[in-house]
Amino acid sequence: MTNKEHHPNMHHKKAIVSAICMEDGPKSDDVKLLVLVGVYIIMYKAAADASISPMEKYEKEALYSALQGFVGNEWNGSFLYPDPCGWTTIEGVSCDFSNGFWHVTDLNIGDLYDNSLRCSQAAEFREHLFELKHQLEPITIPISSWDSLANSLESLEFRSNPGLTGTIPTSFGHLNNLQSLVLLENGLKGEIPEALGNLSKLKRLVLAGNNFFGPIPTSLGRLTNLLIFDTSRNFLSGGLPVSIGDLSSLIKLDLSNNRLDGKLPREIGGLKSLTLLDLSHNNFSGGLPETFQEMNSLEELVLSDNPIGDYVTRIQWGNLKNLEMLDLSNMGLKGNIPNSMTEMKKLRFLSLSNNILSGIIPSKFENVSTINALYLDGNDFTGKLEFSPRFYSKLRSRFRASENMNLCSSLELTSTRHFPEGVKQCEQESTVDSKDSDPSLKDEYLSQNPHHIIASFGHSGHAVSRFTFCFVARMILMALLSIIFL
Ligand SMILES: *[C@@H]1O[C@H](CO)[C@@H](O)[C@H](O)[C@H]1NC(C)=O
Ligand SMILES: *[C@@H]1O[C@H](CO)[C@@H](O)[C@H](O)[C@H]1NC(C)=O
Ligand SMILES: *[C@@H]1O[C@H](CO)[C@@H](O)[C@H](O)[C@H]1NC(C)=O
Repeated sequence: MTNKEHHPNMHHKKAIVSAICMEDGPKSDDVKLLVLVGVYIIMYKAAADASISPMEKYEKEALYSALQGFVGNEWNGSFLYPDPCGWTTIEGVSCDFSNGFWHVTDLNIGDLYDNSLRCSQAAEFREHLFELKHQLEPITIPISSWDSLANSLESLEFRSNPGLTGTIPTSFGHLNNLQSLVLLENGLKGEIPEALGNLSKLKRLVLAGNNFFGPIPTSLGRLTNLLIFDTSRNFLSGGLPVSIGDLSSLIKLDLSNNRLDGKLPREIGGLKSLTLLDLSHNNFSGGLPETFQEMNSLEELVLSDNPIGDYVTRIQWGNLKNLEMLDLSNMGLKGNIPNSMTEMKKLRFLSLSNNILSGIIPSKFENVSTINALYLDGNDFTGKLEFSPRFYSKLRSRFRASENMNLCSSLELTSTRHFPEGVKQCEQESTVDSKDSDPSLKDEYLSQNPHHIIASFGHSGHAVSRFTFCFVARMILMALLSIIFL
């Protein structure tokens, strides 16, 4: 496309800014290219020079500066190409006419054309490049011309541009040397092309935060060099392909916040290098594969908000010796907490909230020295909570055991400022004799012992200050009632 024939009627709604820098001489393999489309659309009101094709001054200067970044400062754009969208076009630069001005839509530097500008040794991307993105209408990734990059492109990134719409071109499958494909937080949609499975050198595939739908292609199992795979926050559906287990190098797998369903394949246990696995907020069901316990590099495992519905005892949790974070909330899990769960020596965070777990809560969690958050609320746990006051004061509001109908605490309400919130006191442990069963009398008792309340202020944060608040509210209410009745 040249500019010579450009005419206001011929709109080329293509606004990809790209650049290829080739070193002179033989083609080298380590040519890197990065395509970035920024989020910012900067509008200036600048008077155009009426004698030449109208172009906003800032945009013209941005073009010169961006090009200087690639070809070197000695290149004098305003001298050589005073009318870059008009009578002195620059080879590789395309323009489009809209709203009374010419705007740069396409920038290609390198061996593309016979007289293309050559990149300097110290080529750089200048921020002026982003000022060239003037397109207010949604733009798409062009389908063609990727082939010319097949052997050179190592990294391709489009980040944070909601205006970038359309689909991933199948021709991306030809980018044999691509090691990193990052299409993060754009407005892209459509299915993930099978052809991405051809990118055998790919180490990072990040498609998070778009509108992709359809299945995860089985072909991606061929990406045996992949280290990071993140397709979170899309609308992907269908099952997790069995081939996922072939991604033996994978360190990070994040498929959270999609519509994936079906049974998790046992092959997932093949991910021996995986340190992070996040499958939360999907519709996976049909139980936990036992092979989970083989992923012994795991540090973070997040499976929350899936109707998995299994016995939590299915997994030998103690095998996951490196696990630091385990989120199993809202999964329809049943059974008793197995002892093995208290044997993860690095565990910092454990959530079992909102399941149908039963039995007693093992006090051995207190022996896991690293533990810093323990959420057990919304289950059917029974019996006595036996943690020490020290444990509650360490975890504070990061301990929850409320909404367990038949759970009680052996601690005396009046003897600690770290009583677990929303858990009733075990009846046989009462110390303030029978009067204690009447809550208003208990408040009376507390009001006679105000030191407990004062001592707790500023010490244990949320839980106690809320209790204090309830207490004060009740005192006010009682005072009001006594005014009315006396
Ligand atoms: C580029 O050329 C213009 C004249 O067209 C001149 O005014 C300007 O100083 C030159 N810039 C450099 C950096 O040489
Ligand atoms: C990419 O993979 C598909 C199958 O998924 C195959 O048909 C196609 O020929 C491959 N293309 C290249 C360039 O390797
Ligand atoms: C989740 O999967 C079940 C089948 O296991 C299906 O009945 C249900 O509609 C799915 N829910 C959503 C939100 O897709």
